Amino acid sequence: MRQENNAEAIWVRPTGGACGADVHGVDLAAPMDEAAFKVIADAWSAHLVLRFSGQRLDDDGLIAFSRRFGELDRVPIGTGDLERKDNGVAEHARPWVVVISNVKVGGKAIGGLGSYELAWHTDMSYNPIPPRASLLYALECPAMGGDTGFTNMYRAYETLPEDLKRRIQGLDCIHDASLNSAGERRLGFQAITDVRQTPGAVHPIVRLHPVTRRQCLFLGRRANAYIPGLSLADSEALLDRLWAHAAKPEFAWYQRWRVGDLMLWDNRCAMHRRDSLDETGRRLMHRTQIVGEAVEAA
Ligand code: OGA
Ligand code: MN
Repeated sequence: MRQENNAEAIWVRPTGGACGADVHGVDLAAPMDEAAFKVIADAWSAHLVLRFSGQRLDDDGLIAFSRRFGELDRVPIGTGDLERKDNGVAEHARPWVVVISNVKVGGKAIGGLGSYELAWHTDMSYNPIPPRASLLYALECPAMGGDTGFTNMYRAYETLPEDLKRRIQGLDCIHDASLNSAGERRLGFQAITDVRQTPGAVHPIVRLHPVTRRQCLFLGRRANAYIPGLSLADSEALLDRLWAHAAKPEFAWYQRWRVGDLMLWDNRCAMHRRDSLDETGRRLMHRTQIVGEAVEAA
């Protein structure tokens, strides 16, 4: 058996950016007691996004570590190409592990999201109970491209102009279920012609983080968003202002992937996006997601 992780051996180094920290001295495939896990959980609360480099995880190991953060959530609704049985995920892991990849076998994708740029988003926030966390593990990645950005939504909220803070108090937003973060339509959804009819969960725009009790912006995704109770024009104008602020580079930090990196992000207080990448460079990642809690208005 591998050597058990020891709380004293773990050290956390912040990236120096708006969020994110590296966690050193951890072997995620080895046993971890409560004390060691608490070091990680506390670092996660403080830094929103954690990177564990040089890991060697199979799906059972990824699932076991993920479960430390809560119950596993099911994989998101696909776009049609995620149903294949030869994508490298074992039957027992299939409801929990989603393949994020641009790799094609027989001309067809084995995973989701391809080589596209992904817009800023929160994972699966179209669900009434959005995941609290996602864990994304790199099995293969190209030398360049596909960097993933993470943005600190506490800071985005705290730095809003006062008039905007007042304006959004008590307002909700609809989080579109019909498109994925690459803009592809999910199975079973029609094209949206009027965002006032967007299908998806309604959540408060300012949420209270259940662990840190801090306020943060919770925007989900821009496409097809709508603020119930406002006219279409007012909703669009307000969302544009909020997004222009939240997407500022000063709130973001970027991950350049290496094989063996596991990224853990807090879906409640961080959004993420991805640069596009070259289709000829193989990128293969496995992701889990953790059941969250109903979004508490701040
Ligand atoms: C995801 C996601 C980013 C990436 O898996 O939810 O947004 O870098 N992935 O592939
Ligand atoms: Mn995502």
